[in-house]
Amino acid sequence: MVKGRFITLEGIEGVGKTTHLAFIADYLEARQYPVLITREPGGTKAGEAVREILLHGKEIRIDAMTELLLMFAARAQHLQEVVIPALAEGKIVLCDRFTDASYAYQGGGRGIAQADIRILEQLVQQELQPNLTLLFDASVQTGLSRAKKRSEADRFESETIAFFERVRQTYLERSRNKPDRIKIINAEQTLPAVEQDIIRLMESFL
Ligand code: TMP
Repeated sequence: MVKGRFITLEGIEGVGKTTHLAFIADYLEARQYPVLITREPGGTKAGEAVREILLHGKEIRIDAMTELLLMFAARAQHLQEVVIPALAEGKIVLCDRFTDASYAYQGGGRGIAQADIRILEQLVQQELQPNLTLLFDASVQTGLSRAKKRSEADRFESETIAFFERVRQTYLERSRNKPDRIKIINAEQTLPAVEQDIIRLMESFL
C-alpha cells in the first residue's frame, strides 16, 4: 500500500533543479516530514552504472530506442529497490527527473512515439505516477548558458538548440494535458521568487 508521496522535478538543463530540490527537502524536513532524495537515471547501484553509460559514455554508440530502454531499465530497478519501499514507509520521495523526462527527451527530443513510451511506462510503473511534478521552465538560451558554466557538457548537454526546444515544448505540452499534477514554475525569475512559488505550491499540496 502506498502511504507516502512522490514528488518529481523536471525541466531542461540549467533551470536549477538541484538547488531547488535541496530547498524543498529543507522545507519539508523543517516541518518534520520524512524525506528521501533520489534521482533518475540513477538512485541505485545499477541505475548509477547505467547513468554513467548514458551521460558520459561519449565513445559508446547508443541509438534512441536503446537510450529509452536503458532509462526504463534504470527506472525499473529504482522503483523496486528505492521508490516503492520508501513510499510504503510513508516517506516523501523527492526525485530529480522521472518518466516525464523520457517523454520530453526520448519522445520530443529524439522523436520516439509517445505511444511506445507509454507501453514501457505501463510495464514498469503500472499505475504508479508522481503525486506532484514541478516543471522548472526557462528558455533554452537561459538554460544552456547556465548549464555550460557548470562543467563539461555531457552527452545530452552536447545536443542542439533545436533538440532542447523540442524537449521544452514537450514538457510544456504535458503540463497543459496534466495540469493537476504538473505545475510550471518560471525558472527565469530570481531565486527568492522561484522559492516563493515553490512554497506556494507545496503549501497547497501538503
Ligand atoms: P540531470 O539529472 O543532471 O539533469 O541529467 C540527466 C540527463 O538525462 C538529462 O540530460 C535528461 C536525461 N534523461 C532522459 O533523457 N530521459 C529520462 O528518462 C531521464 C530520467 C533523464
